[in-house]
Amino acid sequence: MKIAVMGGTFDPIHFGHLRAAEQAREAFGADSVIFIPSALPAYKPTPEACAEDRFNMCVLATESNPHFEVSKMELERGGETFTIDTAEQLKKMYPEAEIAFIIGADSLETLHEWHRANELFEKCSFVAVSRPGFILPQNTCPPHVTIIDGAAFDISSSGIRKRICFGKSVRYLLPESVERYIEKKSLYKLNIDIILSKAKEKLSKKRFIHTLGVVEEAAKLARIFGADEQKAKTAAALHDYARRHSTDKLIALCGKYGIKTDKIMLDKPVLLHAHVSAAEATSKFNITDEEIISAIKYHTTGKSNMSLLDKIIYVADMTEKNRENYKGLDELRMLSYNDIDAATEFALKLSIEFTEIKNEPVHPLSIEALNHLKATSISEE
Ligand SMILES: [Fe+2]
Ligand SMILES: [Fe+2]
Repeated sequence: MKIAVMGGTFDPIHFGHLRAAEQAREAFGADSVIFIPSALPAYKPTPEACAEDRFNMCVLATESNPHFEVSKMELERGGETFTIDTAEQLKKMYPEAEIAFIIGADSLETLHEWHRANELFEKCSFVAVSRPGFILPQNTCPPHVTIIDGAAFDISSSGIRKRICFGKSVRYLLPESVERYIEKKSLYKLNIDIILSKAKEKLSKKRFIHTLGVVEEAAKLARIFGADEQKAKTAAALHDYARRHSTDKLIALCGKYGIKTDKIMLDKPVLLHAHVSAAEATSKFNITDEEIISAIKYHTTGKSNMSLLDKIIYVADMTEKNRENYKGLDELRMLSYNDIDAATEFALKLSIEFTEIKNEPVHPLSIEALNHLKATSISEE
């Protein structure tokens, strides 16, 4: 009896894995291929999907092939995974079987450094998946290796995760049943942690700390006033995304994204970062939700008839806990927990005052925002 073993995180499993397993089965003459999802892979980042989901996706992907099966042995063993432990466990279960591990050909160079490599080489052989032009390493190669060509299926799990994260199609990259499972369980979706990790790369340390403060404050305000907390956090995380660009770059990006500029924006180019951040939320994160985009776009000027989310981001930007103290901050913060309209009106007044003190032009959108809020508060009285 011959058994081929396909280990990996399978985060998620895709046609590259399945095709390599099928080719390896033929090349090695295996009776079966056992897919073994790993718990915590040695020397690799922690998987995104939980063990149960990765196992279930393997089951779905392999169910139509009678030669394929999935084992929970590494997930049940838990902790860090070494191939030698799996080899020993399989030898106990199938004492008569010849066992081959399916690996990427790149690993042949470092295989001799694997945990208890010599014992591993005695116990089993390897099927290495390579691409054209691959040269077998002479000194480090284990004694029993079969090379197969896996070039036709150059698919990666990380590439698939990225596509899903940014709302792109993954059709024909993995089995439909796995695609449906991912959709049903909302796996690999864009989440606030991914957005913040990208924002961190883009912003200065100080600006990133400010962004974290705005996320926290916006979430708090969203809970108080019944806005969508996820949307509030997303808008907050990206509101200053383009803040670090130079003036020239901001102006160039306005051209690229078709953003209409006006004289005040061009005289005071820092205002452009809000519009560019909104455009980049769509182009880089595939965010098209109008409420989120609007809250990012108008977080520096405000606008007439602001939505609840517009107001939350506008205020949270000015009241988050890392803001340096300014006259009116305590009052604004207190007001923001009781009356978001009054807080936005007060925040606009403060912001207009600061601008006037600095002798800078006030953007007409800020005046419109303030007038609209005043008018609605009067009509409500
Ligand atoms: Fe900003
Ligand atoms: Fe900000």
